[in-house]
Amino acid sequence: MVQLTIDGLPASVPEGTIVLEAASDLGIVIPTLCYHPGLTAYGACRICLVEVKKGEKSSLEASCNLVASEGHVIETCSPRVLRARRMIMELLLASCPNSKTLQDMAASMGLNKVRFKIKNRDCILCGLCVRYCKEQMQSGGIGFVGRGTSRRVATAFGAVPQECRNCGGCEWICPTCERACNADNLVDGLCGGCQNLVQVETCPVCTRCSESVGPRGHRVY
Ligand code: SF4
Ligand code: SF4
Ligand code: FES
Repeated sequence: MVQLTIDGLPASVPEGTIVLEAASDLGIVIPTLCYHPGLTAYGACRICLVEVKKGEKSSLEASCNLVASEGHVIETCSPRVLRARRMIMELLLASCPNSKTLQDMAASMGLNKVRFKIKNRDCILCGLCVRYCKEQMQSGGIGFVGRGTSRRVATAFGAVPQECRNCGGCEWICPTCERACNADNLVDGLCGGCQNLVQVETCPVCTRCSESVGPRGHRVY
């Protein structure tokens, strides 16, 4: 077993446990987008960042891709973590302002403006669809093509691939396809239409920062 501390709480987890799951065992909710427990970790979206303390120094690491180590001291909701997550959420929303999943998460973080140019790519390159297709369907019908800003998910030659088994899983798992936001009045990249509907409960774990938990288990900051 590995002993570590998360948000001041002691944890004891089997070797190989990722920090995200160790935190979840303690009831600590860390927002995720590209993580799925049934798929290999990818560490693409970075929304699950946590602060790993090392003496006077600390670093931000993706908790879905970080294996718990003996003596780890982890902060999941420090000011540095919250600032970084909000910045990442702005970048993601600039790519996909019509994703209801992203808009809800942004609302739960108290985001009130997207400062980046809206590009509306309808994909955050989280890789969930590609990993689902390959790992769960053993199909490999879709994959990433291109580099940098041209990177996107595609099928070979843009046609329905022979390997595709029409399971629909790639759409089901996609955080930008599953729940399209129909708002046509984005202001500063944010929909805002649902924010008043966010139900807020007091966070049951940590009262140090007045944190709350909104719908889908995401924190309200
Ligand atoms: S519908 Fe086709 S491309 Fe999509 S996950 Fe299923 S097999 Fe893969
Ligand atoms: S299409 Fe959806 S699931 Fe696939 S990489 Fe883009 S955002 Fe992720
Ligand atoms: S959920 Fe961890 S990097 Fe995306």
